[in-house]
Amino acid sequence: MLDLAKSATPSPPVATGLLYEQVAERLQNLIETGSLRPGDRAPSVRRLSSDLGVSISTILQAYRLLEDRGLLEARARSGFFVSGRLLAPPPPAKTRGSRRATVPETVEQILRVRRLANDRNLVPFGAAVASPAFLPIQPLNRALARVLRERPLEANSYDELAGCPDLRRQLARRSLNAGCALDADEILTTGGAQQAVALCLRAVTRPGDVVAVESPTYFGLLEACAALHLRALEIGTDPHEGICLDELEAALARRRVAAVALAASFGNPLGHCMPVANRRRLVDLAVEHDVPIIEDDVYGDLHFADQRPAPIKAYDRDDRVMLCSSFSKTLAPGYRVGWTAPGRFRDVVERIKNASSVAAATAPQLAVARYLERGGYDRQLTRLRRAYRDLATRIACCVGESFPAGTRVNPPQGGHVLWVAMPAGIDSLELFERALERGIGIAPGPVFSASGRYRNCLRLNVAVEWSPRIEQALAELGRLVAEQL
Ligand SMILES: Cc1ncc(COP(=O)(O)O)c(C=O)c1O
Repeated sequence: MLDLAKSATPSPPVATGLLYEQVAERLQNLIETGSLRPGDRAPSVRRLSSDLGVSISTILQAYRLLEDRGLLEARARSGFFVSGRLLAPPPPAKTRGSRRATVPETVEQILRVRRLANDRNLVPFGAAVASPAFLPIQPLNRALARVLRERPLEANSYDELAGCPDLRRQLARRSLNAGCALDADEILTTGGAQQAVALCLRAVTRPGDVVAVESPTYFGLLEACAALHLRALEIGTDPHEGICLDELEAALARRRVAAVALAASFGNPLGHCMPVANRRRLVDLAVEHDVPIIEDDVYGDLHFADQRPAPIKAYDRDDRVMLCSSFSKTLAPGYRVGWTAPGRFRDVVERIKNASSVAAATAPQLAVARYLERGGYDRQLTRLRRAYRDLATRIACCVGESFPAGTRVNPPQGGHVLWVAMPAGIDSLELFERALERGIGIAPGPVFSASGRYRNCLRLNVAVEWSPRIEQALAELGRLVAEQL
């Protein structure tokens, strides 16, 4: 354990009114010499007060001073942490959209990335999948065993068309806390968020239609567009605030757009969070141009700030927002339990769901409903949020240390992926192949664009168990990038 009293350089006698400044100096020294690294927890106020023999208020004053200097950050109920912004490279610039809408051309590359998602020999930076260490496998197993034991007939039967009533009730109950009250009847369960988004797209488009998407955007959305012969129109996106509304407005004025499909809260790959004012304006634009919004909220519960942002659907005025989500990021990707609240398109979506899959699998839905009912989900979310925030900071800092100058990293505001923009000329597709040869998975930038842009970018999954191998893999990636320069 870090011993501040011993490890600091000798300090002047503690007799002046500036005692807290001396404490702050000692701590700052530890940060500057790397004994305390960005993302590390600072010693607890109580412990430090007893170790140094000074009052708690002195320590608090010192910590506040370091906060003002941008060296520490306070986190509610968790204490003080060394600020991650210190070593992390600066964020990338806002992107520009493309004028041409195109049926996504990167599907082969996407498939290649997807096929590697389950390769357990790879360092798992490639797929946006949580390490099993973060998932409540035992409690879920118990919930599943219990529903199979207590409700064997139901668990083995076709589910209701709309989805498991127990699960929809739990989702409706949770929607209140998310700031967007839903009725159980508004909700349809699906085979993951991917199916939810694909069903919604199909409900509101015809082949050849144009769908406005963020740039970069989640590649599963591009796959769904390609499968439905839809043309994706990439709209410029701010890495902090999400889709650029001026650009979207211009596009809506210029051409017919069949749907806007995006993530307002912690989109993949940027981890951005759309401000409330933008969420409202987006709804206004959608009403004005009579276009549905498909909102992917799969990371909405994984916010790093204290408050969960309410989905765009909370600002919906005329039932045009089709909200989609799942438990893949927080409980079990393999259960394939997702859902949608498609507003006025509910019946169409239900018919398409029925036509394509009859119903979602019953047993996993019952198990998730039982798990939610038991009440451990909020603790699970708190654990994930803390872990992912720290990992994002830590990994961003490692990238800052080992990647060439000019590399930029977007600090995510939630979720568990990190977007890295490397100097121009770096080819992330080649980097992807070289990294694979060394047992490291990454997601290359072009898979996040319909037209293969972002060749110099990559996405890293941060929901990994920290280990020397992870640190070495980041250093190795940095070396591979430097070789390309
Ligand atoms: C933004 C986003 N949406 C949807 C999905 C797919 O979720 P599911 O596994 O529930 O289909 C993912 C998975 O990576 C994702 O990152």
